[in-house]
Amino acid sequence: MQKRYTARMRAENDRHFAETGKRRGAFVMTFGCQQNEADSEKIAGMAEAMGYEIVTAPEDADLIMVNTCAIREHAEQKALSIVGQYKHLKAKNPSLVIGICGCMVVQEHRKNDIKFRYPYVDFLFGTSSLHRFPQLLCEKLEKGKRLYCPEETEYQVAEELPIRRESSYRAWVSIMYGCNNFCSYCIVPYVRGRERSREMPQIVKEVTELVQSGYKDITLLGQNVNSYAKDSGYPYDFADLLAELDRIPGDYTLRFMTSHPKDASRKLIDVMAASRHIAHQFHLPMQSGSDRVLAAMNRRYDTAKYLDIVSYMREKLPDVTLTSDIIVGFPGETEEDFEGTLNLLRAVRFDMLYSFIYSPRKGTPAAEMEQVPQSVKSERFDRLLALQNQIGTEKNQTLVGKTLRVLCDGVSKNNDALYSGRTDGNKIAFFEGEPTDAGRFVEVTVERADAFALYGKKV
Ligand code: SAH
Ligand code: SF4
Ligand code: F3S
Repeated sequence: MQKRYTARMRAENDRHFAETGKRRGAFVMTFGCQQNEADSEKIAGMAEAMGYEIVTAPEDADLIMVNTCAIREHAEQKALSIVGQYKHLKAKNPSLVIGICGCMVVQEHRKNDIKFRYPYVDFLFGTSSLHRFPQLLCEKLEKGKRLYCPEETEYQVAEELPIRRESSYRAWVSIMYGCNNFCSYCIVPYVRGRERSREMPQIVKEVTELVQSGYKDITLLGQNVNSYAKDSGYPYDFADLLAELDRIPGDYTLRFMTSHPKDASRKLIDVMAASRHIAHQFHLPMQSGSDRVLAAMNRRYDTAKYLDIVSYMREKLPDVTLTSDIIVGFPGETEEDFEGTLNLLRAVRFDMLYSFIYSPRKGTPAAEMEQVPQSVKSERFDRLLALQNQIGTEKNQTLVGKTLRVLCDGVSKNNDALYSGRTDGNKIAFFEGEPTDAGRFVEVTVERADAFALYGKKV
């Protein structure tokens, strides 16, 4: 069905190209997590199949798609502000079509915001309708009216969507969609629906094709990859999937995110330890170091369970890079709870931390709980960063003198005298490279390090 709409759009865009000598441009703006990055590669893939040329500046576009995130208030405000900026583009080019999709617009109150405050936005669709993008665009263009796509009641696993990948050597592969965990602070289960997993053969096929076409670094994506396949009753689990993917021959690295500590199994760690291609890297969001807060968050593990997984992991994978997410200022968090988080940081010693100030999300249980004042949240956040800075620096400095394999991303965006890349543990490394290094593995001897990066010499 979508193929029919794709062909119809393609014919119209080809006709425009024949007439004007110029392809219509499509620009995709992405907010949010890797899952959204992966979805945007599908949006771009579908747009290309419909005969658009993907452009890198909104000024050059005839179609702008904004793929939004709802995880924190700041993410929503950023998306709304970008949409606000596109108003003048529409004034200059009345045939410009603007669409908004992704997590933010699944929420009724945000749909209304757009309806009333952004009348120049042409169409909206949520995460359940991603695969229907060609149809929705087609209907919008043919009927001319603004279009709000209702959420689907059944979430599907859409296979075979065209993908236009951003990189020719790093790839995202979604293995499951949605989340069933309902952590009390989190909007994701409401905007992404229930967990549903792709079948193993489809994933093996996609990864095999990626490896064969030269991809070097492949990240499997899901909100909780450890519960892969559980929703669908397939006769295999996430560890089996990893073991199967690891058998694909070639020179490449496999990664995955995110793992929920309640489901991180010893079997998974054993598979990693025995594998050839799986990076010794684990992103294991801890969220808080207080058992009381973890319970209020509905995380369904405690600090003892968390420490147990970490110690098994360090036993089996002594060189593992361990990173985590922390929320500061969850409702009811006391100074003592927060001290618990700092103590757990001191005990675990993460390589890196993604820390967030708690942001109330409409419709989630935590938004109704008693809130921590903003000034207290900020003050705790600064203390957390200071401690992690010290730990991260010390951890990275233990790598000085070591030679590590780095997948080079080319000239650094921040310092054009240096090249940058990622280690097996996904740490950023800077070194003096050459143009042919981009997209290749190089060996780098680390000479110095700070909390965020390693600096070294190519050997
Ligand atoms: N599925 C992943 C997390 C996805 S969201 C997991 O469970 O690990 C990424 C991170 O955003 C979360 O780990 C959490 O630390 C943070 N986050 C989620 N909701 C938040 C909120 N309301 N306020 C602040 N941070 C939040
Ligand atoms: Fe949100 Fe929790 Fe699901 Fe992660 S596991 S996406 S934090 S509800
Ligand atoms: Fe944001 Fe949706 Fe990802 S809310 S973090 S883009 S799943």
